[in-house]
Amino acid sequence: MRKKVPLDIAYRIIQPGPTVLVSSLYNERCAITPIAWHMPVSDDPPIIALEIYHGHFIYKAVMQTGDFVVNVPPSEMAETVRKLGSVSGAKVDKFTELGLVREKSEKVSSPRLGGAIAILECKLRNEKAIAKKYDLILADVVYAEAEESVFTDRWMPENPGPRILHHLGGKIFYVPSNEIITKK
Ligand SMILES: Cc1cc2nc3c(=O)[nH]c(=O)nc-3n(C[C@H](O)[C@H](O)[C@H](O)COP(=O)(O)O)c2cc1C
Repeated sequence: MRKKVPLDIAYRIIQPGPTVLVSSLYNERCAITPIAWHMPVSDDPPIIALEIYHGHFIYKAVMQTGDFVVNVPPSEMAETVRKLGSVSGAKVDKFTELGLVREKSEKVSSPRLGGAIAILECKLRNEKAIAKKYDLILADVVYAEAEESVFTDRWMPENPGPRILHHLGGKIFYVPSNEIITKK
C-alpha cells in the first residue's frame, strides 16, 4: 500500500534515478511517457527537473495542463515501460492500448498510474524560457506517496517487495541489488 511521504523528503523517491512514467492530460485525454532524465533540484521548497523533448505528446500535455504526475513503476513493468516509450500518445491512447489504470490525484488535475510504487504530484513552474530553450521542465512537488513496504524515509531495497527500475539504454533495464553499504 502507498503511504503519504512528507514533502521535504519526497526528493528521495527519484534520488536513485529510477525510470519514471510521467502522466498528464491533453484535451481531456490521458498522456503517459517514460522519462529517464530527471533530478531533484531543491528539497525546500521541493522542486524537480525533467528533460522532456518538446516534440513529445507528454510535453504538449504538461504545457497545456500545467501539472503532471511522476509515477515510479515496479520492475515488473519493464516491458510496459519499453512499449510506452516506443509509441506516441499523439497517435494512440496509451492508457487504453496497454490496459493501464488511471487514478484520481490528490492535488493536481493530471491522473496517476494505478500500480505505481511511488508518485510525485507536480505543478509546472513558470520558467517558460528554460523549457523553450532546453526542453527542461521545472516543477514544484505538491504531494507524494510511496509503497510503505519498500520506502520509509528512503527506498529500502533490503526489504522484500517491489523494486525500482533503471534504464541502461535501448531495450536494456536494470534492477538494483538489495545490498546496503552504509547503515545509519
Ligand atoms: C526507458 C525510457 C526512458 C526515456 N527517457 C526519456 C527522457 O528522459 N526524455 C525524453 O524526452 N524522452 C525519453 N524517452 C523517450 C520517450 O519516452 C518516447 O519517445 C515516447 O514514445 C514519447 O511518447 P509521447 O509522444 O506519447 O510523449 C524515454 C524512453 C524510454 C523507453
